[in-house]
Amino acid sequence: MLDGKKTLFSGMQATGNLTLGNYLGALKNWVTISDEYNCFYSVVDMHSITVRQDPAVLRKRARTLLTLYIAAGLDPVKNCIYYQSHVSAHAELAWILNCFTYMGELNRMTQFKDKAAKHADNINAGLFTYPVLMAADILLYQADLVPVGIDQMQHLEITRDIAQRFNSTYGDVFTLPEAYIGKVGAKIMSLQEPSKKMSKSDENPNGSIYLMDDKDTIMRKCRRAVTDSAGIIRYTDEQPGLKNLIDIYCACTGKTPDETMKEFDGKGYGEFKPAVGEAVAAILMPLQEEQARLTADKAYIDGIIKENAEKAAYYANKTLRKVQRKIGFPDRIRN
Ligand code: TRP
Repeated sequence: MLDGKKTLFSGMQATGNLTLGNYLGALKNWVTISDEYNCFYSVVDMHSITVRQDPAVLRKRARTLLTLYIAAGLDPVKNCIYYQSHVSAHAELAWILNCFTYMGELNRMTQFKDKAAKHADNINAGLFTYPVLMAADILLYQADLVPVGIDQMQHLEITRDIAQRFNSTYGDVFTLPEAYIGKVGAKIMSLQEPSKKMSKSDENPNGSIYLMDDKDTIMRKCRRAVTDSAGIIRYTDEQPGLKNLIDIYCACTGKTPDETMKEFDGKGYGEFKPAVGEAVAAILMPLQEEQARLTADKAYIDGIIKENAEKAAYYANKTLRKVQRKIGFPDRIRN
């Protein structure tokens, strides 16, 4: 892009209620890195319909998520924050890339296998080609970097494979994206089953702290978090539940595990757990207030939605037009 900064693209689905894991693992880092790059942060509502959605709920959650990006500190002037469905180039490029993607490649995607097993009554073609739409998202903006968790790494790899295949036939059309591996990207686990990632689709609501949980709920979930019988504050894989609480505490306070162990030396879980709850609340309460304030300002959010969709479409269409020309679609007639 113009100012020499690298371009970064990421997206989140508006399905389920966002958790502390989504915030500490992704959103918070997006804010930290947003000054360094030209960032596109999409609410990927087109991906969401690969699973059946209630229209009113999807619409509401998409808006909540977009507002949350801003409430979390992403400047909507410097960062392009937009709905994927508002930029039709995503669908158009996805179709073209479908024709450059092999069934065999898609068959290997572990997320497809997992989701197909989970939604056995609705194994639709969109679920199968989900990674191709994701490739279109990334490649449209010529993104250099994509911050993704480990669960999306396979999708990033297929994106690179598709881009490389296209480039080898048509010349350098697409930038090959790389994973952005955050320095501090906290991986937050379930409070009830610390071997599992904290997830917005977890059936047990006590396993996750939701970004919109009130303080009492946060405190209760932290108090009830699964730990062990050792009873001492140590940062070790042998105490996975406690280790996760220490990770949460550190991510919320900026302290290190060593500092935390010193701080709670000689103290038990009865003291540590409420301290974790307080630290989480100290992060989430202001976030909720800002979210409420922004939500009330409908005209402001509407303005951002409109302007950023136009900005995203400008960059996306540039790439799309180039692709269309390369593959031999007839030129548009302009007078
Ligand atoms: N599939 C991603 C997820 O569920 C969301 C996503 C869609 C995405 N398009 C993207 C992430 C492009 C990074 C880049 O987490």
